[in-house]
Amino acid sequence: MDKASHILRPGKRLSALNCFAAVPRGAEELAAAELAALGIHDALPGKGGVAFTTDRAGLYRANLWLRTASRVLVQLALFPCSNPAELYAGVFALPWHELITPDMTLAVDCSLRDSALTHSGFVALKTKDAVVDRIRASCGSRPNVDTTAPDVRINVHLHKNSCTVSLDSSGDSLDRRGYRLERNEAPLRETLAATVVALTGWDGTIPLADPMCGSGTIPVEAALMAARIAPGLQRQFGFQRWLDFDSGLWADLCAEAETGIRRLPVGLVTGYDLDNKALLLAGRNCSKAGLEGQIHFFHAAFQEFRPEGDKGVVIINPPYGKRLGEEDDLRELYCQIGDVMKKQCRGWTGYVLTGNLELAKYIGLKASRRYVLFNGAIECRLLKYELY
Ligand SMILES: C[S@@+](CC[C@H](N)C(=O)[O-])C[C@H]1O[C@@H](n2cnc3c(N)ncnc32)[C@H](O)[C@@H]1O
Repeated sequence: MDKASHILRPGKRLSALNCFAAVPRGAEELAAAELAALGIHDALPGKGGVAFTTDRAGLYRANLWLRTASRVLVQLALFPCSNPAELYAGVFALPWHELITPDMTLAVDCSLRDSALTHSGFVALKTKDAVVDRIRASCGSRPNVDTTAPDVRINVHLHKNSCTVSLDSSGDSLDRRGYRLERNEAPLRETLAATVVALTGWDGTIPLADPMCGSGTIPVEAALMAARIAPGLQRQFGFQRWLDFDSGLWADLCAEAETGIRRLPVGLVTGYDLDNKALLLAGRNCSKAGLEGQIHFFHAAFQEFRPEGDKGVVIINPPYGKRLGEEDDLRELYCQIGDVMKKQCRGWTGYVLTGNLELAKYIGLKASRRYVLFNGAIECRLLKYELY
């Protein structure tokens, strides 16, 4: 139970933080591979996330570099919990006064599944009560709640009457890279776009094109990867407000990340769309992401798409009816996607990301692989086509 005490104690060297990177379903193995690339080799992919142990530098690195994860939690305690009293006692037992001072603010997020306690709002409230009571008992006053921009975000997860209490080291969700200022009608989450690019296996040595790029999320995420730009370089993280925040270590990690950045060759990553407003956003997002002039966006109909070069990766995220237009109108578009890929993209590898499996049938080509992914709550397929 006293495990939490070492976490935020300033100056303390940390050797083993139990962490959990929450990941959109379908991207768990990729996140584990990303962690391995950061030198974290014990990552255990599970449903919706990856468990791993690391030290403070590893925690900062994971937040800075993970492209597929939505947040990184640091586990403080795990205890049996099937009623409000057990919840309160389990949370109260943690040394919160060492983690949060009365002049800081906090928020509690809760998720639960298959447990006796079924109301997430109640669990969050009870957790908050136990935290502030413990701090008041030790310090004489209590911190306030701030649900939008708290200093410390606490995460409580109940599964089969087991309660995990964690600190959310990311703060805002990691898909908020900081480059997207405005959203178009159907933007892809940045983490999902990064997952899609990673699943294609694209390594930045051959061209990548997105002929229906909208606000440019796929080209931007691909370009960030190829340019070796850390996705978190522009934003703030929850751990930066913790009492143990090591600003020197953080500055070193950011400086190290800056030195690895490379400029992309002309034509490596391109995006196309019919919608001028979306293209304007794509251009702005690209510049804001630190990629000014490195992704080329064109106003063009997908039907005219005819990539140069004998090989490359084309990723298409067409409208799929549920959010942007109606299904009937889209059948013809999906037929054309099949035609264009087959006739105009020979030698390339094609990928279509869609949330509508019925429409996908109209592509009329045989997919060589299918990946199940989620865009928020929408179940999607990423379909792979070898275009000989
Ligand atoms: C689902 S959205 C893509 C969203 C994008 N991935 C993003 O993150 O913003 C589909 C895009 O296809 C574009 N589109 C639809 N029909 C098109 C066509 N015939 N040619 C080119 N673009 C088209 C739309 O303008 C829209 O931006």
